Amino acid sequence: MSEHIKLNQEDGVLEITFARPDKKNALSNAMYDAARVALEDAQTDRAIRVVLFSAEGSAFTAGNDMGEFANFASGQAGELQALPFIQALAQAEKPVVAAVPGLAVGVGMTMLLHCDLVYVAETAKLSAPFVNLGLVPEAASSLLLPARIGHVRAFAVFALGESISGVEAVILGLANKILPQDQVLPAARAAAQALARKPAGSLVSTKKMMRDAAALLARIDQENAVFAERLKSEEAREALRAFLERRPPDFSKFES
Ligand code: COA
Repeated sequence: MSEHIKLNQEDGVLEITFARPDKKNALSNAMYDAARVALEDAQTDRAIRVVLFSAEGSAFTAGNDMGEFANFASGQAGELQALPFIQALAQAEKPVVAAVPGLAVGVGMTMLLHCDLVYVAETAKLSAPFVNLGLVPEAASSLLLPARIGHVRAFAVFALGESISGVEAVILGLANKILPQDQVLPAARAAAQALARKPAGSLVSTKKMMRDAAALLARIDQENAVFAERLKSEEAREALRAFLERRPPDFSKFES
């Protein structure tokens, strides 16, 4: 359980809300764990037909909690819970909808690649600056993002840290619709409720044929092996220290 994950079930829709707005909804291990359990339970709960991810405040999520990344990197913490969460999302059979009011960083962006309908605010800013952090892409984004937006754009996102605006997200096929910030959640809820009224068996079979879950899980495993190694690298440690010390990182002393 986590006080920063709120659950609400209504009309066949389970809404999972990231509720840590003072930290831009950065995802802690406890939050990943609570969201994963809810997502997994939803797959077998006959009363739930659709899952909706939403967020409190102006950000969707600033990605993994940097303090917990730093603890893992320095060997002070055990397993990160991001991986089981992403694995559950990649295996979710029921439709998943997302309402993105603003910033979606790191896993905040890459999890959207696993969602079936995505609604973004005009203020949305999607980024996955893994290389800036000395890391590599995760959540099968090394497969899904180039497939969705092309290699060069995806490379600019991962390697240059370029962000994608709400308008661009729709143009590039990363989101269905762009809306004023206060209309994003109502639109996503309406879409989720519309899906909940559809024949559930047909929806599950349709989603299954549109995604190769086994290939996604295999890629997630491959990425995770490199990601975990990178997280303990000097480059990543410097990037994480720099974030926590609120200064720019200095990678000049490290060689490839
Ligand atoms: N982990 C932990 N805390 C985070 C966080 C994260 N990923 N992102 C933001 N926060 C915290 C900040 O430390 C700050 O806490 P404080 O008020 O106690 O100092 C608070 O959330 C607000 O963030 P702040 O940086 O002041 O807001 P901003 O609007 O200037 O910038 C971001 C927002 C998201 C651009 C910036 O916080 C950021 O770059 N965060 C890291 C994103 C990231 O790299 N995620 C991992 C990707 S793999």
